[in-house]
Amino acid sequence: MKHILVIHGPNLDLLGKREVDIYGKVTLAEINEKIKEKARELGCQVRIKQSNSEGEIVSFIGEARDWADALIINPAAYTHTSVAIRDAISAVGITAVEVHLSNIYGRESFREKSLVAGVCRGQIAGFGPQSYILALEAIVGKRGQATFS
Ligand code: DQA
Repeated sequence: MKHILVIHGPNLDLLGKREVDIYGKVTLAEINEKIKEKARELGCQVRIKQSNSEGEIVSFIGEARDWADALIINPAAYTHTSVAIRDAISAVGITAVEVHLSNIYGRESFREKSLVAGVCRGQIAGFGPQSYILALEAIVGKRGQATFS
């Protein structure tokens, strides 16, 4: 059974109240419920963490070595600034998928640069809360879905 750690970065605890025109009205608690529901369906185990602190996120990634087979991470604003989070993902060597609710390439130009993209297996951005579900399916392999090796 796959063990997947999901990490939400800064300000994502405010989802549902924060810039709803961009991020929508769905709360983080609701997203987490959907992630757990999909994990049950796919037969994998998830742990979900959120932090507004860069150092804490680095620690979550480091601790993932003991438990997780894969990492789904939305580093939020740290996507564009954090060498520390990039290095942590690279250091643990666990397959990571970068997730964003919004399409970071269709917004301000400073969001177009992701420092973590290069150490992730892939990136899913722009599908709102569904981005997390797509990441889970990408990692675990959706039942009935064609797979390519
Ligand atoms: C975000 C995009 C980031 O640029 C932004 O700082 C966020 C959320 C997203 O999920 O769309 O906080 O990661």
